[in-house]
Amino acid sequence: MINNFIQDDLIHIGNNSIIIHGKNYNFDYPSCIKILNQEFPTSDQSWYFENEYEFSFNSNISCVRKALSQTIIEHHKGIVFEYIDGIDLRKYLLIKNRPFEELLSIALKIVLAIAELHKENIIHNNISPGNILIEKGTSRIYLIDLQIASRNRLKLDDTNNQIIRKAILSYISPEHTGRVNRVVDYRTDLYSLGVVLYEMFTDKLPFEYSDPIELIYSHLAKTPISPDQIKKDLSPIVSAVIMKLLAKNGEDRYQSAIGVYNDLKYCLPGNRELNPDFIIGENDFSGKLLIHPKLYGRDNDQNKLFRIFENCAAGSCELVFVYGYSGSGKTSLINELQQPVSDRKGFFVSGKFDQVQQNQPYSAFILAFKELINHILTKDQETLGKWKNKILDKVGNLGKVLTTLIPGIETLIGKQPDLPSLSGVELRNRFNYVLGNFINAIASKENPLVIFIDDLQWADKSSLNLFSLIVTDKKAKYITLIGSYRDNEVSEDSPLIQMIDKLNDDNIPLYGIEVANLTYDDVKKMIDELLRTDQENSSELSHLIYTKTKGNPFYIHRFLQSIYNDGNLYFDFDSKIWRWNTEDITQLNVSGNVADLMKSAVTKLPERTIEVLKVASCLGIRFDLDKLSVSTSIGENTLQSILQQPLAEGLIISATSHYKFAHDRIHQTIYSLLTEKDQQKYHLKIAEALSANTKDEDINEYIFDIVNHWNLAANSLTDQVTKYHVANLNVLAGRKAKGSAAYQQAYVYFDKGIKLLAADSWNSNYDFTLQIYNDAAEVAFLCGEMELAEELVNKILANSKVLEDAIKAYEVKIQKLIAGNHQNEAIETGLEILKKLGIQFPAKPGKLSIILGLVNIMRVVCVVKSSYLYFIQ
Ligand SMILES: Nc1ncnc2c1ncn2[C@@H]1O[C@H](COP(=O)(O)OP(=O)(O)O)[C@@H](O)[C@H]1O
Ligand SMILES: [Mg+2]
Repeated sequence: MINNFIQDDLIHIGNNSIIIHGKNYNFDYPSCIKILNQEFPTSDQSWYFENEYEFSFNSNISCVRKALSQTIIEHHKGIVFEYIDGIDLRKYLLIKNRPFEELLSIALKIVLAIAELHKENIIHNNISPGNILIEKGTSRIYLIDLQIASRNRLKLDDTNNQIIRKAILSYISPEHTGRVNRVVDYRTDLYSLGVVLYEMFTDKLPFEYSDPIELIYSHLAKTPISPDQIKKDLSPIVSAVIMKLLAKNGEDRYQSAIGVYNDLKYCLPGNRELNPDFIIGENDFSGKLLIHPKLYGRDNDQNKLFRIFENCAAGSCELVFVYGYSGSGKTSLINELQQPVSDRKGFFVSGKFDQVQQNQPYSAFILAFKELINHILTKDQETLGKWKNKILDKVGNLGKVLTTLIPGIETLIGKQPDLPSLSGVELRNRFNYVLGNFINAIASKENPLVIFIDDLQWADKSSLNLFSLIVTDKKAKYITLIGSYRDNEVSEDSPLIQMIDKLNDDNIPLYGIEVANLTYDDVKKMIDELLRTDQENSSELSHLIYTKTKGNPFYIHRFLQSIYNDGNLYFDFDSKIWRWNTEDITQLNVSGNVADLMKSAVTKLPERTIEVLKVASCLGIRFDLDKLSVSTSIGENTLQSILQQPLAEGLIISATSHYKFAHDRIHQTIYSLLTEKDQQKYHLKIAEALSANTKDEDINEYIFDIVNHWNLAANSLTDQVTKYHVANLNVLAGRKAKGSAAYQQAYVYFDKGIKLLAADSWNSNYDFTLQIYNDAAEVAFLCGEMELAEELVNKILANSKVLEDAIKAYEVKIQKLIAGNHQNEAIETGLEILKKLGIQFPAKPGKLSIILGLVNIMRVVCVVKSSYLYFIQ
């Protein structure tokens, strides 16, 4: 493509695009055009392109190169930008040993440019010398390449995230790597700025590795050599500013670009004398309330968790339950393990159950396994090959159990052969065998594995089975399994508590960590650090807040946010201290519970925003923009702007490919604002939209998601045709659940299906009715619900038209008799049916009959492939 342009039109050649002069393209202003290399760009490239355009179009931020329009040149998409005659900082730095004053003046301008961007609530996310343009003559600074810029805060937790992929690793902040449990906010740019300044003033990068893993690890864990140790004559202030910018935690860095500017300017000749007592960071005020995720009062619990993990890394299998009230800090505490696990090159994966999507079998495990596979898929080809062999070695030709359960694993282990069809106990054994071996293939001395399953109080029974399976497997090593739950929301006879009791009875060693409310001292420390103040009167505010919230951390955060939003807590720039209105705060939220506080925060949002959030809450704790768009009939761009305010207030978090509610409490509050009727209305709308947008061949893949929305809307369905459609979807879901041995969940689906049948269904829709009853009876038996199984069997026997139709029901009946130790009755029933079918069996078999019977059994056994014999225990 480059050949098509006259050489002197070319300004820049990048990896995915080129930039040419616009002078030959009849624009009546000086322009340049950024053109995509590919005629058919990948989805990532298109996303970057659109994002850059959105942030640069008509921008009135003076340090952003303005985009003027979109264009297409020789079938390639392009953006027309205003033309800036300049060079980028990378080229500028090729000339070494530039005078200190010159460098400092450029540095100050860069800092101001970043401050300007942040003032508009834009995070660049990719600050590096190649993206900083210095205009010739004026030395004005432009920040270019806003391909991964974002508004507000982002939670980067997917390893395959576009934003993580695009960032330049030498300049990436620790939180931007997606490897630490931190929300990414504008302070990520300040870290990258630190790297840029380091390079400007020392001619070196803080971490000079070519291996990406080593580089990421250094950003996460290593302290760079201080710049004034590299350049001995460098001003110690510049050096200290850079080191402060390079702090690993956002809260230890500068809090504002202006703060950096205020310090750096003291290094200009003559300025130092203006304030000889100057202390670094002294004038670093953003005036914003920045709630950071640092944990207080959890040292003991953290150490306990770390020690448990150390045991696991030495070869044991550990089980931990973490429990406490909603918002007490369970999830945050457990996530603190990420760092030590990653330091040991281990895997930390997590998944959580969702209140709205409770029926989906294994949903949290699937999320965790998906994360695991995504981690592995980021490795190089050779390592991928090793993982593939490791897994296949352990699961043999039963890999299909994994590929049907875990999205994305096929990319790693390839297409797997079909499985011999099994049912009942054998199928469960096979499932358990494969899953157990898969986990054991991953967890090793080199890569200990931590699986964190959050919010077990919403887990389905099949997931609880899998949970105990993992820790009761005698072969399990190098594994830590952590489950968290709200102990005040589960009763003694709930399946979860029963499972824990059973593990205790079976003497499975387990640890329990109770996460309690914070003490007053912790709260005070937290507030002092949040406000970055050692104001003498801060104990007054701390007392107020402690009294209101009883030390529940989630409540404290929301309470602070609420008084800040209302202007009852504000930064006084003149006296450089925080102030608050004690009286108004005392009056606030007199009911004293977090639910009411949340409700009032949500209801203060604009009407339309609330409506959108309500629909989003029906989608679950995590929601995709495209799904939200089809469910609300509002375009994605409009939705994005509607979501700005809840994003800014920290009610939701954006993670590029999806959004999520910042906490289950927030999700619950919004969901509970809906009447039952409204909930049904929205679920119906979502169900219809999802059904319409899913191709027939993809239905099976997304069946649980689709059917759950239909089921949540089931009571509002009136039309019998739709009811049958939904009943049929339930059959599909039930069978899929049954296929992965999730019998309890399968029963839930079949049962929902039965409830949707017409009253005269046995007459009007005989075949389908027979089928769904048979399915339900079988799984009811398999999950030990004998009475239900009997009830269903009796219905089938009473309604079946011919004996052949009742065979399956008889089979269940016989199995049930055997399971109840009524062998004789079982044989009698069997013989009686065989007789009806015209097959005679001797009541007292002779030797010959027995031998013939054995031969038959052996024939059956021989056709069964050896591969799946050894898992039948
Ligand atoms: N020990 C703590 N100190 C300060 N803040 C905390 C602490 N524990 C949790 N938080 C904050 O409280 C909020 C709720 O914590 P989370 O871990 O989600 O609670 P849970 O999982 O128990 O519902 C989060 O915003 C978190 O950052
Ligand atoms: Mg939680």
